[in-house]
Amino acid sequence: MTQATSPDTPFSPDPADHPWWRRGVVYQVYPWSFQDTTGDGIGDIPGILARLDHLAELGVDAVWLSPVYVSPMADFGYDVADYRDVDPRFGTLADLDRLIAALHARGMKLIMDFVPNHTSDRHPWFVESASSRTNPRADWYIWRDPAPDGGPPNNWRSMFGGIGWEWSQPRGQWYYHAFLKEQPDLDWRNPAVVAAMHDVLRFWLARGVDGFRVDVIWHLLKDPAFRDNPPNPDWRPGEPEVRRILQIMTCDQPGILDLVEGFRRVLDEYDDRVLIGELYLTIERLCAYYGDHLDGAHLPFNFHLMMDPWDAETVGGLIEEYERRLPAGAWPNWVLGNHDNPRVASRLGPAQARVAAMFLLTARGTPTLFQGDEIGLPNGVIPPERVRDPQEKNEPGLPGHDRDIARTPMQWDAGPFAGFSTVEPWLPLVPGWETRNVAAQAADPASMLSLHRRLIALRRAHPALAVGSVRVLVAEAGLLAYERRAGDDRVVVMLNLGGALIETRLAEADGGQIVLSARGGRDGEIVGARITLAADDGLVIACD
Ligand code: NOJ
Repeated sequence: MTQATSPDTPFSPDPADHPWWRRGVVYQVYPWSFQDTTGDGIGDIPGILARLDHLAELGVDAVWLSPVYVSPMADFGYDVADYRDVDPRFGTLADLDRLIAALHARGMKLIMDFVPNHTSDRHPWFVESASSRTNPRADWYIWRDPAPDGGPPNNWRSMFGGIGWEWSQPRGQWYYHAFLKEQPDLDWRNPAVVAAMHDVLRFWLARGVDGFRVDVIWHLLKDPAFRDNPPNPDWRPGEPEVRRILQIMTCDQPGILDLVEGFRRVLDEYDDRVLIGELYLTIERLCAYYGDHLDGAHLPFNFHLMMDPWDAETVGGLIEEYERRLPAGAWPNWVLGNHDNPRVASRLGPAQARVAAMFLLTARGTPTLFQGDEIGLPNGVIPPERVRDPQEKNEPGLPGHDRDIARTPMQWDAGPFAGFSTVEPWLPLVPGWETRNVAAQAADPASMLSLHRRLIALRRAHPALAVGSVRVLVAEAGLLAYERRAGDDRVVVMLNLGGALIETRLAEADGGQIVLSARGGRDGEIVGARITLAADDGLVIACD
């Protein structure tokens, strides 16, 4: 079933001939905030199990679950103390096995988060490594002697603010941490680390998980000579201080592909699994992570919809650059939101968030949808005393820097605490939750949720949308139009990324039938030679 992954096999217009991770939609569950069943104000795995109907009704194909491993939660699970067990806050390993089975029974997949760059400082590997210079794991982390003045070995910084080195008294050395000091970086140049982490992957693959989203995959290797990072001439006050230097020696290093291909070889020991890499990189660099022979990540995450301006010229240009740079046979992907960035509904505003959803779910490439975006959840409002995000605590007040705003609980209904919990949740609900919730939107055919359900159903119904080719038709003056095609199936998408009415001609859409409009009210309309597109509207047009 994976014939289309080879550049040498002919394209099949039948989605069934494509692997699930190409034809499907991925949905990110942030476990802290999905559904609480224990009354502690924090989501848990039984809560996810209780809400599978929502995922089925939405029509998604796979869940990517942010970390549920044992963790002191200094970075909300991205500081793992045991890679082979579930944190009691979220349930048990048996609960996770039940989740895998329940998703599979509904024809859905489970993608685990894999956090290989760093462990928790409470992980037994680090406790042992830090205990002396001679223990069996002494060289599992990035240990360095002090600079001649006794200070840190070089100018590397933490992504969360401050220097990237922490002093260890027992060893009389510094260790490097790209994130918190509670997240020491493993030394991926040590083959024992590679082997141990490969075994972690096998542990989960054998339990039936369908793949991994690999955390900060471009961070794994650092300059072996430990040279300073150069200053960033473009840094401006008000930006996080880590941006004062360019991460040239600490990220995207030569040799990183060998590690990615190593993960892929482990996944390929099993059937039909997916490797996704987290990468905040240019299109050119992220395309390298597919591997020279498509033997790297299946889906190196493309975050450009979150990184770049939202206008027709930029998005059209992105599609074209992406298609040009994709290695032969590689499959693209698009992401509109995640737990680290402001909500799309706040970045673009509620009207353009609908247009953006239409783009995400009609684009060529696997879409990843972040929980809550399907109900248009805007940024949370977090009073200073309720800030939880360590990044925000270290450098308060920088614009777009507070990650709590994207992590507020799911809003299910108008009951107490929006049906998320029976107590005040760990982060506040978004004001207006009494009406902005899944139950209210499920009953409203014009809602953001209904739009998502219909878009996903269309993606499933039209091979052109699921697996077809793409051709940009127009990308200027607010209008982005593209054609998707697979065999006889042809769909034209027209998006108004601006606030003005557009009147235009589009030969490729002439005679087609509108099957969905972002603002509603145009279903069934046959497109003529001239077409009008209201501000903030988008059209999906079936053309045979
Ligand atoms: C990326 C994750 O998405 C983010 O939440 C985390 O803080 C860092 N990696 C460090 O693991």
